[in-house]
Amino acid sequence: VQAVVIDDGTLRWAERPDPAPGDTELLVDVRAAGLNGADLLQRRGHYPAPPGVPADIPGMELAGTVAATGRQVTRFAVGDRVMGLVGGGAQATRAVVDETHALAVPDGVGWPDAGGFPEVFATAFDALFTQAELAMGDRVLVTGAAGGVGTAAVQLAAIAGAHVVASVRQPSVRPKVAELGANEVVDPADVGAHGPYDVVLELVGAASLPIALGALAAGGRVAVIGVGSGAKVELNLLQLMGARARISGSTLRARDRHGKGSVVGAVDAHVRPLLAAGRLTVPVDGTFPMADATAAYDRFAGGGKLGKIVLIAPD
Ligand SMILES: NC(=O)c1ccc[n+]([C@@H]2O[C@H](COP(=O)([O-])OP(=O)(O)OC[C@H]3O[C@@H](n4cnc5c(N)ncnc54)[C@H](OP(=O)(O)O)[C@@H]3O)[C@@H](O)[C@H]2O)c1
Repeated sequence: VQAVVIDDGTLRWAERPDPAPGDTELLVDVRAAGLNGADLLQRRGHYPAPPGVPADIPGMELAGTVAATGRQVTRFAVGDRVMGLVGGGAQATRAVVDETHALAVPDGVGWPDAGGFPEVFATAFDALFTQAELAMGDRVLVTGAAGGVGTAAVQLAAIAGAHVVASVRQPSVRPKVAELGANEVVDPADVGAHGPYDVVLELVGAASLPIALGALAAGGRVAVIGVGSGAKVELNLLQLMGARARISGSTLRARDRHGKGSVVGAVDAHVRPLLAAGRLTVPVDGTFPMADATAAYDRFAGGGKLGKIVLIAPD
């Protein structure tokens, strides 16, 4: 295979041995692989891949065609179009994915969209509905709402009948976030005036959370998923008690095979049909040839994007 390889903080396009599928795995000819914040952290040596995946090939999501299957695979066959979650190694022309972490790509969904779908929709669905128990009619705040997870979360919450307040710092992308279903798109500094919030999906971290905590509804649920602006905040426990609120945090990557499989199963049941029906979109801000990963990572780090950056494998 050819792969994006992390070499002492730089990215190279290099040859690597072909991965072999384990008993429950699919070998996938990768067509597209979405970029995530974790890839940028891993490049800088801060977020090592979990055991069992290539340590120096980044990439946590992919879409492509099944090239071979492990002996116990039952759900997919050679030639199927799949998209899925991996612990690492997605940014290569071939990669392996467990069949329980893979989803069929709906007809009509193109490779860039499929390659940018799994990580952010799985993260947003799990945080909003499984952890924060978002319900119809709830008022939900999504911070960092123009990013990959944010644009997924805004759409999912709106479809579920919540009132969605999206905080977006870049004015130029606010109208597009409104088009995705947000009822109000606000500057991060104004979040306090648009509550109270039954649910807060915190994707920004320290620069954002203290304002949201001051605007919780009674029984509010806060799901912390991203801390790009810092991980340490001062917490007013009285505020939390007064709102009878709870805060939870979570990561997807570190979960075991079964844990990830149940998230993907829930996405298959509840979210994939909406993608197939055209009721959800995967906003792709830009695509880059996989061999040009450095430019893609630079674009991701530059900010101001709407949705995903996706790497496209060579033909
Ligand atoms: N826990 C998990 O399982 C999990 C899974 C996926 C992602 N994550 C994390 O969740 C976060 C969001 O992921 P993503 O893929 O959506 O990333 P993303 O596409 O980079 O989106 C991040 C968004 O947050 C905004 N933002 C960043 N710093 C900000 C600040 N100080 N004030 C206001 N807005 C700010 C960005 O705005 P600009 O464009 O203006 O910079 C961008 O719209 C990342 O930290 C990521 O690592 C966690």
